[in-house]
Amino acid sequence: MKIVVAGGTGFLGRHISRALLDAGHDVTVLGRSPDKVSAIPQLRGATATKGDVTDPGTLSGRLEGAEAVVQAVQFPNHPIELPRKNLTYDRYDRQGTINLLSEAERSGVGRFVYISGAGADAASEKTWYRAKGLAERALIGSGIDHAIVRPSWAYGPEDRALNRFVQIARFSPVLPQPGAAPQRIQPVYVGDVARSVARVFERAAWNDVYEVGSREVMTMNEVVHTLLDVMGKKRAVLPIPSGLLKMATAPLKALPTPPMTPQGIEFATQDGLVDITKMVQVLGVEPLSLREGLTRYIER
Ligand SMILES: NC(=O)c1ccc[n+]([C@@H]2O[C@H](COP(=O)([O-])OP(=O)(O)OC[C@H]3O[C@@H](n4cnc5c(N)ncnc54)[C@H](OP(=O)(O)O)[C@@H]3O)[C@@H](O)[C@H]2O)c1
Repeated sequence: MKIVVAGGTGFLGRHISRALLDAGHDVTVLGRSPDKVSAIPQLRGATATKGDVTDPGTLSGRLEGAEAVVQAVQFPNHPIELPRKNLTYDRYDRQGTINLLSEAERSGVGRFVYISGAGADAASEKTWYRAKGLAERALIGSGIDHAIVRPSWAYGPEDRALNRFVQIARFSPVLPQPGAAPQRIQPVYVGDVARSVARVFERAAWNDVYEVGSREVMTMNEVVHTLLDVMGKKRAVLPIPSGLLKMATAPLKALPTPPMTPQGIEFATQDGLVDITKMVQVLGVEPLSLREGLTRYIER
């Protein structure tokens, strides 16, 4: 099948593209910088096209001939929203998805997969849950064959969350852990997210929502200790209350590109609980445990 993956150069997008290529699909990566595609090993065999999901004019004709679209775009500097630079969940997740969906409908594309997230909810006060919930609602209302994939906290060789712990653990005797309250997540290996998307196509499992995560519900503290164990390192883990981190990062909001903000802390320390029944039963994907996933790429 001819599939366009928007955000195919990203963390999840490159693994999703690889899984689709390996399943025999013809993959075109759509993004702002198509020149990146040839440098990404997972994208060998994919073609590239230029398009910006926030600018409908740039999408015009880009989906011509495609049979499916996968939307895996996220704004630069995520999860730190910068409304003054138009970097918001609303602009990328909600409006970006609607723009891509409209172009898909105009081009007669029959299928659309949206990479949403755990907790997506159109009525939420939180901008990230709301934007994803509204994008889901637009997709469901469109009538196009669709699948909504909601990952919990995803990790893998190129993630920007767990890899920070890996880097710090390599040289520092103390590992700061954002958030002291138990944060419940179901860390999902990026390969399992990618496999789930590929299975949607293989099993024609359209018009449903698939939450994806590991079987284990873990706290961030357990995640960090499992990581240290897999790395073969003994380190002191220092949980820092999120309230303190929010206070400390509040002044950074004034910077042109803040490295962190209170909202970013809130995003990073939230729960990520999912119901994986359909992932296992409908898509046939049995997720790796965190330890199994980490041993695929972490060197001791
Ligand atoms: N990572 C996780 O743990 C996780 C968990 C749950 C849900 N998700 C969701 O999964 C999706 C992908 O996340 P990710 O972590 O893979 O993101 P990512 O690594 O930041 O990748 C984002 C992608 O979006 C592209 N992009 C950015 N702006 C664009 C624009 N205006 N038009 C077209 N493409 C654009 C980027 O490519 P260019 O910069 O080259 O354009 C890149 O390929 C997001 O919706 C995210 O919320 C992720």
